[in-house]
Amino acid sequence: MANTATLHLDGKDIQFPVFTGSEGEKAIDIGKLRADTGYITYDDGFGNTGSCQSKITFIDGETGILRYRGYPIEQLAEHSNFIETSLLVMTGELPTCDERNNFSELLTQNAPLRQGLLRFIESFPRDAHPMAILSATMNALGAYYPHLSGINHQSDLGHFDEAAAIAISKVRTIAAHTYRVSKGLPFNYPKPKLGYCENFLHLMFSEPYAEFAPTPEVASALNLFLLLHADHEQNCSTSTVRMVASAGANLFASVSAGVNALWGPLHGGANMAVIEMLKNIHADGDDGTRFIAAAKTGKGDRLMGFGHRVYKNYDPRAKIIKASFYKALASLGIKDDPLLNIAMKLEECALNDEYFVQRKLYPNVDFYSGLIMRAIGIPENMFTVMFAIGRMPGWIAQWREVASNPKLKIYRPRQVYVGEPLREYVLSSLRK
Ligand code: CMC
Repeated sequence: MANTATLHLDGKDIQFPVFTGSEGEKAIDIGKLRADTGYITYDDGFGNTGSCQSKITFIDGETGILRYRGYPIEQLAEHSNFIETSLLVMTGELPTCDERNNFSELLTQNAPLRQGLLRFIESFPRDAHPMAILSATMNALGAYYPHLSGINHQSDLGHFDEAAAIAISKVRTIAAHTYRVSKGLPFNYPKPKLGYCENFLHLMFSEPYAEFAPTPEVASALNLFLLLHADHEQNCSTSTVRMVASAGANLFASVSAGVNALWGPLHGGANMAVIEMLKNIHADGDDGTRFIAAAKTGKGDRLMGFGHRVYKNYDPRAKIIKASFYKALASLGIKDDPLLNIAMKLEECALNDEYFVQRKLYPNVDFYSGLIMRAIGIPENMFTVMFAIGRMPGWIAQWREVASNPKLKIYRPRQVYVGEPLREYVLSSLRK
């Protein structure tokens, strides 16, 4: 492969270095383009722009490959669990037993919330969207742990394990307490002996008169859901986290920004939109056929849970989550769910339809994850919160990669201005 690329521009040839990633991804380093030519590149939506070099996640969207730190997602889904995978994603290596136990201990210590944070969550309107509360409360952690939100990354990195454990452990308690408050229910104290997922379900659903005990299949489906969401390279929320981190912002401020980006329906909000779509199709007495026909015109609603900016093949996460979903459903004794029947029909139609095939639109992770959440009993407005809990280790890993870059530059894209040219101010009395 050539090690330079030549741009012929304004009668001149300009050379740019070319480099290759560890999986053969080719890139042209245009870092000096503007200085050398006065031009910038224009890439609406960043579809062709590598914003960083990263060692965390590899995706090959054409063939449907996803790996965390080199490990295929299928192997992690089969053999690992959310916390071990979180440590892999954040540190670069699978943990030893001691490392795993130490981190679990930190998670246990950091599971409760300070009184002030409980009151903060309780102060929002009952019907506030849980993503608004999550973002605000994750940001507020910076106020409660000033030694972890210093004025430079170096001081924050010195306490990395503690900050990571606080974010991963408390995001779950914040989410559960938000739910409890919305239902007028009291706070459940975390139980040190329970695993991460079982503890979350206890925080959500235990009552003073009845402890919530999920079936092993349900706990395992939740564990898998979180693991499959742990990182996904430079998507909208992760790029947001990196952008904020590049300004020197602390971990809590950076992941809080990620929560906001994730809230959008084209990103993390899609799992909720899938259930809405299925309910509407059901209420219309449609089996999915009419909906598909309308989606193809480009005028109807999009088929939510289908299509992906990067995957032009079956999203590998969708395959894994679908299998675990059926096991969880069987363990709950759910045999005939009308929304599931519609989802299966939509999938079958779309996978055999020229419109979807031509555009390489396949089910993405959200197509089945909303159905899993619903079966577990998670309310719809909490689906994106669940995604945020799963994505927390990825955001933390990406923050760390930015914060520990010795050559860090603040992220500052350029633009092509297409507004009004220079004009003179006109006094309001003279304006027509
Ligand atoms: N249903 C119907 N048509 C679609 C869909 C869909 N879900 N997605 C894309 N198209 C069509 C689109 O209309 C366009 O058609 P044409 O070429 O005739 O104009 C073509 O496919 C390309 O679409 P695009 O919007 O240029 O593709 P994109 O890469 O910018 O968008 C996407 C990716 C995920 C935003 C989009 O596929 C979509 O809106 N999907 C539904 C929402 C969804 O499921 N989002 C979750 C994404 S996965 C979770 C995550 O990682 O955040």
